[in-house]
Amino acid sequence: MKSEEIRSKFLEFFQKRGHVIVPSSSVVPDKNDLSVLFTTAGMQQFKPFYLREKSPYGSNVASSQKCVRTSDIEEVGDERHLTFFEMLGNFSFGGYWKKEAISYAHEFITKEMGLSIDYVTIFEGDSEVFEDKESVNIWKAIDPNLTIKKFGREDNFWGPTGESGPCGPTTEIYVNGIEIWNIVFNEYFKNVEGKFEKLKQTGIDTGMGLERLTMALQKKETVFETDLFKSTMQVANSSIIADHIRTSVFMIADGVLPSNTDRGYVLRRLLRRAYIHARKLKIETETLNAVIGKVVEHPSYKGLYAFAENTKEIVMNEIEKFKKTLETGLKQVKADRDPFTLFTSFGLPLEIIKEVVPNVDEDKFKKQMEEHRKLSSSSL
Ligand code: GLY
Repeated sequence: MKSEEIRSKFLEFFQKRGHVIVPSSSVVPDKNDLSVLFTTAGMQQFKPFYLREKSPYGSNVASSQKCVRTSDIEEVGDERHLTFFEMLGNFSFGGYWKKEAISYAHEFITKEMGLSIDYVTIFEGDSEVFEDKESVNIWKAIDPNLTIKKFGREDNFWGPTGESGPCGPTTEIYVNGIEIWNIVFNEYFKNVEGKFEKLKQTGIDTGMGLERLTMALQKKETVFETDLFKSTMQVANSSIIADHIRTSVFMIADGVLPSNTDRGYVLRRLLRRAYIHARKLKIETETLNAVIGKVVEHPSYKGLYAFAENTKEIVMNEIEKFKKTLETGLKQVKADRDPFTLFTSFGLPLEIIKEVVPNVDEDKFKKQMEEHRKLSSSSL
């Protein structure tokens, strides 16, 4: 099954069950939501409807949301972590609750997708939130043979996005050894002081990565072998390049430009990392342009086509500037042999320096960085 079909089947499944399909919001969050730099979950555009505001779409909605998560940027390349992904989700604001949410998920995964569930997990409870016995009973009623594992806050409690917002215990579905669907029972509001308040109305918030689901259905070992990445991988054959360029294309289409602050800096880091990997693999810069072409040609992302030329120009300008900085910096390192110059004079982080200066003494570098920090904070 192709990724486009998987997405459509998901949305149709929920539409048939009384959900309004809402288009994805931008990867740049609403200006009133300062909790995160990028949209990190499907629920983000619906946050107010879990609280006070009435949803203009009714109580039950579903979407396929463009998400960016860059906190684990260093982990990209391990084939599981993506900086951009699409999150399939169904949501309810005071509409249905645990029984319906779990039954829908079970039916979609086992019947509609024909996958078998390895096991599910539930929240084991702690001093602030009770064990989720209700979910255990619902799962047992659906399938008495299902393995149910219990975990704590680290694994089975979701949210909020950023510091404060709706959050709650979760139940998660595992297929082929990976977590495929996270079902959040929004019962709490975490305030900025970190305290949990009971929400006036309960809510459902689920998230299932399209890429992971596609990987399970297409029986692939990594997301990069699925149809979502096939054409980009054929051009660049590097998961880091395929991931970072894809994310950059989506960011630029939503109005982000490379800069030294906030969102722009994240984009800059992605492009620099993509270039550094291309350089290491002796891949021409022009190939990065070709990867952009492949991203926008994917049948799932037709809407991006209009941005292609503009995106290519922004990416190439940024990379050309970086190339010059890097080459000048590397010449200096050759001359005085201290890679730390690349940080002090050229603003390059260790993560990049490690890639371009073989055998850089990381411990020494980190000590220098510590000293540098102390000096700059004492001179403030
Ligand atoms: N909001 C649910 C999730 O991101 O997993």
